[in-house]
Amino acid sequence: MPIPDSFIDELVARNDIVDTVSSYVALTKKGSNYWGLCPFHNEKTPSFSVSASKQIYHCFGCGKGGGVISFVMEQENLAFPDAVRLLAQRAGLEMPEELQNAGDGKRRERLLQLNREAARYFHANLSQPEARAGVDYLNHRGLSRRTVTNFGLGYAPDSWDGLISAMSARGYTKGDLLEGGLAVKNSSGRIYDRFRGRVMFPIIDIRGNVIGFGGRVLDDSTPKYLNSPDTPVYNKSRNLFALNIAKKSKRGQMILTEGYMDTISLHQAGFDCAVASLGTSLTQEHAQLLSRYAKEVIIAYDGDGAGVNAAQRAIRIFEKTGLQVKILQVQGAKDPDEFIKKYGPEAFERLLTQSENHIEYRLLQVQKKYNLEEDSQKVAYLKEAAGLVAGLTSPVEREVYGRKAAQAARFDAAAMMQEVERTRKSQTWKARKQEERRELTPAVQSQPKNRAFKYENVSSALAEEGVLRLVLLDPTLARKAEALKQEDFSSPLLGKIFGLLLQRWREGKELQAAALAGALEPEEMSHLASILQKPESLANGEQALSDYIRKIQMEQVKRANANGLDPLLAYREKKAMEDRK
Ligand code: CTP
Ligand code: MN
Repeated sequence: MPIPDSFIDELVARNDIVDTVSSYVALTKKGSNYWGLCPFHNEKTPSFSVSASKQIYHCFGCGKGGGVISFVMEQENLAFPDAVRLLAQRAGLEMPEELQNAGDGKRRERLLQLNREAARYFHANLSQPEARAGVDYLNHRGLSRRTVTNFGLGYAPDSWDGLISAMSARGYTKGDLLEGGLAVKNSSGRIYDRFRGRVMFPIIDIRGNVIGFGGRVLDDSTPKYLNSPDTPVYNKSRNLFALNIAKKSKRGQMILTEGYMDTISLHQAGFDCAVASLGTSLTQEHAQLLSRYAKEVIIAYDGDGAGVNAAQRAIRIFEKTGLQVKILQVQGAKDPDEFIKKYGPEAFERLLTQSENHIEYRLLQVQKKYNLEEDSQKVAYLKEAAGLVAGLTSPVEREVYGRKAAQAARFDAAAMMQEVERTRKSQTWKARKQEERRELTPAVQSQPKNRAFKYENVSSALAEEGVLRLVLLDPTLARKAEALKQEDFSSPLLGKIFGLLLQRWREGKELQAAALAGALEPEEMSHLASILQKPESLANGEQALSDYIRKIQMEQVKRANANGLDPLLAYREKKAMEDRK
């Protein structure tokens, strides 16, 4: 059941953006906007702005933006209807009756409840005779009773409908089980348990909700691990296994592993800050999430080629969040789980303290590529290493790592430092030139930050942005904007936003950016906020609007021509348009 627009409008009107954001971020007024440190990326100087007049926020650093609903969705990691629910509560607004029972939030709650009951069922199974093999497996992996309880591990019996019948008895439907990813339907329509004959690892979010499961086979069959699919309550790119426990750790660091068993072994050995990304490689959202709980993250992936590659990738993702990254190299074992079993917790603690910061790690990777006994390779090594070290902003770090890199090739440190500084100069010069060149091309400057929304026709798109700005700043201009159709827009996204606004206007609803949060994706909303944040004068709104409209229409004629439409027809249209002005 969709939430009525009138309710959304009321909700937006009652939740002032400055008030709402202020309860999460310290804001200071400067000029016509409020400024603060962006809650969505790590920064030391404020680039997060909130406009009271436009009721939007926009971060000049990471590009996130939107209205009050988008802010709460992003900040609280909520879906649209749940953000609405929260804001309604905050403003003391009663949710419309029909939404209280049928809303998405209720749906989510039901699925969470189902997951919790399923976890209980899997766990309780461990004491049943048919779970013998599962219990044996957990023992054989060295997991203590306490660990099994702490993590709520369980066993899914080797049957087609063990869970289904247990949950049906508790009032859940097959639809619930399918939506929760706990059951699957085959091509002939038969519905059966997704997890069969597997030890079960519940995935719990930071609020303590069971949101999904991983299940491991007891033998060598495949797939080794089966995970819940993404569901309304589980999104694998946004959740990390064991973060619900690790977030309380006092170690001030996070250990990121590849899987369930590594993480659980580490916890059992006393490293309560271990987490894992599950069945997916690390995402920007994972990194962001971790940066909320620690300043330092130690990547402890498997020692194999795949692990090394994944670590290299993860480094780059973490760099963007400002987290300090170190790489732990598991030696003499394939992964942290095996390492702890073979050498014990103290040895792992030593690995942790020895773990290299990422520059050391990268130098080591470079070193491995070359045979340093050979002169030509030695030169190539020194050049590549100098390039890496030259990229470090701190002169102290350049000195330390430059020397280290030289030492490895038994090369003169002073000469190496000269090479580093020379490389650095040429790097900065190149970067500056590139920057200058970029700035000289307005087309580049006007492109959306988000590549997915790249403008095919920049001059038209800039006018399209102008139309959206004017209509949102002064809704009385909407009548005039009706001369345009969504299809006239060169940018599909801007056209879509225009279409939504026009429709609202025709239905007599308010025109405000914040209310579009339900109809647009968060990235689309961010782009809209970045457009609205650009200056636009209302002094001569009518005139400005007709200029924009003419520009858009002319560009469209040009595009039609380029597409090989009848040039005569195009010319006549253009003429007619010019006569109209
Ligand atoms: N994984 C997965 N699906 C698979 C294999 C692996 O989702 N078919 C994910 C799991 O989250 C797993 C992680 O990738 O924990 C690491 O895989 P792997 O190294 O194969 O597992 P281990 O943790 O070493 O598992 P085990 O020790 O149980 O063999
Ligand atoms: Mn492994």
